[in-house]
Formats: sequence, C-alpha cells, structure tokens
Amino acid sequence: MRILVTGGAGFIGANYIHYMLEKYEDVEIVNLDNLTYAGNLENLKEWEGDKRYKFIKGDICDENDVSRAMEGADVVAHFAAESHVDRSILGPAAFIETNIVGTQVLLDAALKANVKRFHHVSTDEVFGSLGPNEPKFNEDTPYDPRSPYSASKASSDHVVRAYHHTYGLPITISNCSNNYGPYQFPEKLIPLFVTNLVEGKKVPLYGDGMNIRDWLHVLDHAEAIDVIIRNGKEGETYCVGGNSEKTNKEITYKILEIMGKDEESIRQVEDRKGHDRRYAIDASKIKKELGWEPKYSFEDGLKETVEWFLNNKDWWQKIKSGDYQKYYEKQYGGKL
Ligand code: NAD
Ligand code: DAU
Repeated sequence: MRILVTGGAGFIGANYIHYMLEKYEDVEIVNLDNLTYAGNLENLKEWEGDKRYKFIKGDICDENDVSRAMEGADVVAHFAAESHVDRSILGPAAFIETNIVGTQVLLDAALKANVKRFHHVSTDEVFGSLGPNEPKFNEDTPYDPRSPYSASKASSDHVVRAYHHTYGLPITISNCSNNYGPYQFPEKLIPLFVTNLVEGKKVPLYGDGMNIRDWLHVLDHAEAIDVIIRNGKEGETYCVGGNSEKTNKEITYKILEIMGKDEESIRQVEDRKGHDRRYAIDASKIKKELGWEPKYSFEDGLKETVEWFLNNKDWWQKIKSGDYQKYYEKQYGGKL
C-alpha cells in the first residue's frame, strides 16, 4: 500500500509515519510537506534513506506539486494544515488558503488518480464550544466553528464530503480532540509549558484557566487513523477522543508537579479572543464499529511526554532558536 501523507513533517503526521513504518513492512510512504514554520524534517530523520519512505517538498495548494506526489498513491492521509488557533486569530488568510483551497486541490488530484481512500484529518473544534453540562460532541453534532482556524477546518470537511456525494470519491473523515506527545511544536499548551519551565520562564495561562479540552495521546490518534483507513466505511465520519477532559489549570498543575515546580511559575495572562470553553468527544461510534479505543492513560502519557521533552532538549531548543529550519538545507541541499 502506498500512502501519500500530507503534512508529514508536522507533529501528528510525523507520529503517524513512525507508527505506520514501524507497524507494517509492506507500507510505502510519500510525505508531501512544504516545511512551514511547523514542519521539521528532523522529526523523521531515522527514515531518511529507507526504501519505503520518500519526502517531497511541495505545497498542497500547488497542482504540480500535488500531482507529482500523488503518482501511484493508493491512499491519501491528509494532515497538512495551518493548525494553531492563536495564529489564525492574528492572520486568518493562510488558514483559508491551506486548509480550504489546499484540500480542494488535493481532492481533485485524488479523484484523477483514482485513489482507494482519501482520509481527511479534522478536528473537534468544528463543533464549537460546549457548556459544562452539555453532552459531548458526536458525529451528528451540528457544525458551529468559532475561530478562523476551526471555520477553515469546517469548510474543508464540507468540501471533502461534497467530493464523496458529487463525484463518488471514497473518503473518510476523523474529527479528533487535542493531541499531545513527542514532536509537538512548542507553541501548543503542553510543550510550551514544559519547555518554558526548563528555561526557567513562567507559563502563560489564558484567562481563568478553566477551559476544558479532551486529551488524546498522538499514537492513539495514529492508530485510530490506521483503523479508519483500513476498516472504516466510505463516506463516514468518526469522532476520535481520549475520554480525558481536563481544565488547563489541572494540566498546568500536573506539569508543575512532574517538573518539581510550584505555582510561582504561573503567569495568568489575558484570555484568547473568542476562547472556546469546552471540547469533549463521544467516541462510542469508532469503538462500537471499529473496535478502537485509546490505550494511553493521560497520567502515564503526560509523564512520558514530559520525559521526552526533557530527553530531547536539542530538538526543541533548535526550534525555539530557529535553527531547525536550516536542517532541510543541510541534509537535502534544497534539491527536492
Ligand atoms: P502541525 O502544525 O504540527 O503540522 C502541520 C504540517 O503541515 C507541517 O509539517 C507543515 O509544514 C505542513 N503544511 C502546512 N501547510 C502546508 C502546505 N500548504 N503544503 C504542504 N504542507 C503544509 O499540525 P498538527 O498538530 O500535526 O495537525 C495535523 C492535522 O491534524 C491538522 O489538519 C489539524 O487540523 C489536525 N488536528 C490536530 C489536532 C491537534 O491537537 N494538534 C487535533 C485534531 C486535529
Ligand atoms: O481540539 C483539537 C485542536 O486542539 C486542534 O484542532 C488544533 O490544531 C490544536 O492546536 C488544538 O487547539 P487548542 O487551541 O485547544 O490547543 P492549544 O494547545 O493552543 O491550547 C490548549 C488550551 O490551552 C486552550 O484552552 C488555550 C490554552 N492555552 C494555550 C496556550 C498556547 C493557554 O492557556 N496558554 C497558552 O500559552
């Protein structure tokens, strides 16, 4: 099976590639990524030179790049996106371009190439924000996106479904909750807080710190995507979650405890504009139909993740200093 992975140099895409190449011998991966600030080829350096792995530097919005990468693909696993809510508030344009237009360019190419499955990796944020006692999101929850990021992901979900209904493209979609784990870019809550604490800085907790997210280890997410691509029904959507709702305050205190710090390290800062209060996923459909459920407990997963960041200081220090962007030039000489 040849899988075109888009955005494989980012956090979840890279973990998915590790997961797939480690699990299956007969899988080939083509990784199409244009290495934005969030793309880092060091995430995949152990696969460089492996016959089953090929990297193509290219933009999902560019038809030529996409058709080159699509050659011979059986399956597309589409991760590439602008993914950070705060950046979408500062500059929505790139989100509209990559997340909506890029997805449509890929869908056209997938249709031409007659792929057996186009899997679109989406988010629970498309459903909006829950009150404290409202039921969790499920596959029937109406869309109600509220940030430029979630609005762009919601649009892309609709376009993906339209290609299924109109042209018969065999698609699946997953709407997943907040991921954490190795290689997460240190702009997101957990890696930002862990790396700030190592650097002796404070951690910026937004607003009252009582916003809730449902946390899932990234390797559980990788497994869910694999299961959906192999056994999920064409045209279907699956909600994927960790069954692990936590306030940001709880997470912050857990990180402080693991790292032997106290609340003196917290800096309460102005709230994110339009900050969604609560996300939570009811993942009973994927459990019932495909037998998937998360394996990691949040407590163990968080400890392991903090340890990963402590043991891989070189990886994130290069990101924080900007040096990681020189890796591609050095290893690939800008030739791809
Ligand atoms: P990320 O920001 O870490 O990585 C995104 C990757 O996409 C980067 O490697 C980047 O270089 C690449 N990319 C961006 N624009 C591109 C373009 N025009 N052409 C080619 N490549 C491009 O993101 P992530 O956290 O790994 O998220 C991956 C996907 O999962 C996204 O679609 C996101 O919406 C979705 N998702 C993320 C989470 C989460 O908690 N992080 C949860 C649910 C869903
Ligand atoms: O729910 C899935 C989504 O999770 C994905 O679709 C997004 O790509 C991903 O970025 C993530 O979005 P969030 O906005 O939930 O993640 P983030 O790590 O940015 O923030 C998590 C919570 O922590 C949120 O309530 C805001 C808060 N926060 C975040 C940062 C970066 C802080 O309090 N301080 C911070 O510095």
